[in-house]
Amino acid sequence: MTVTTRMVACGSYVPKRIMTNDDLSAIMDTNDQWIRDRSGIRQRHIAADDEYTSDMAYHAAMQALQRAQLTGSDIDAIIVATSTPDNTFPATATKVQHRLGSSAFAFDVQAVCSGFLYGLAVADSMMKNPAMPPIERALVIGAESYSRILNWSDRSTAVLFGDGAGAAVLEKTNGDAGIERIRLYSDGGDYDALYVDGGPSTTGQAGHLCMNGKEIYRKAVTYLTQSSQQVLRDASRDADEVTWLIPHQANKRIMDKVADQLSIDRQKLVVTVDRHANTSSASIPLALALWQEEGRLHKGDLLLLNAIGGGLTWGAALVRW
Ligand code: ACO
Repeated sequence: MTVTTRMVACGSYVPKRIMTNDDLSAIMDTNDQWIRDRSGIRQRHIAADDEYTSDMAYHAAMQALQRAQLTGSDIDAIIVATSTPDNTFPATATKVQHRLGSSAFAFDVQAVCSGFLYGLAVADSMMKNPAMPPIERALVIGAESYSRILNWSDRSTAVLFGDGAGAAVLEKTNGDAGIERIRLYSDGGDYDALYVDGGPSTTGQAGHLCMNGKEIYRKAVTYLTQSSQQVLRDASRDADEVTWLIPHQANKRIMDKVADQLSIDRQKLVVTVDRHANTSSASIPLALALWQEEGRLHKGDLLLLNAIGGGLTWGAALVRW
């Protein structure tokens, strides 16, 4: 039997406050039709003033643990993927660890919208590493408060993002289910295609999100398709074996195009961007949690995950549920 890393349960959290496209059109020169046509987004959730990334991460983690019938003390490692941490340091993950009553080691990963995939890859590798003390269970969380880094006077970016968190409990197991393949990629040559114009070592301020939308669109379609095809090849699987295609939820047009290029039926495409907008590293675990909650994930399902984000970073994973 081979050791695999199984995803046993997912959880999610979104802030109470919903901002619809019409709400946005009251504060900037935009409209529901434009946003829906260009992105598929209907609404987004916005964190309360006193609600932080760590709070959302904690709530998502709690739901995942409850679904797995576990507590914080059952977890050996906690990874939070975020590009909107509570503070420059320490890692948001340590706050979450303390609140969960866990003695796990905890740290953040920063790969922007690909962060959850990067976190999965790191957790999977550590859990299979014989040089480390045994890690039986890990929590990988994606949590973001993009409302805090948006330029609310830039309609070309402000309409696309939202806040939220998703979490997955991973368990080491002997068997077939689990993470089958992961591929990660980066190209810092496109550092300026999607970035935040601030940081501790440059301006000393958090900064605001800036994006070359057309460039990102073009690269996203190409790289998401290529990395997905690569993990399918790595696993010697055909696209028609995929039960659900669960992409990073950036933009419905990008997701449709990638599904078509992979020859995956759009019925198998998981879409939550309409209700959450782009929640960066939180979007894939949010979608997984919703699908689990709705009873749409069944034992043996083959999930194809893919994501792209600032960096650029991108990648894909094949997960047997
Ligand atoms: N409401 C109304 N009009 C707008 C808005 C808005 N919110 N934003 C821009 N416009 C206008 C522009 O000013 C422009 O007007 P003009 O023709 O009079 O100059 C017109 O709409 C078209 O603007 P474009 O920028 O050319 O719009 P485009 O068709 O490229 O769509 C979009 C923009 C949606 C950002 C597109 O480029 C895209 O989908 N890019 C992918 C980016 C993405 O999804 N990023 C997510 C983050 S990255 C990630 O997570 C991977």
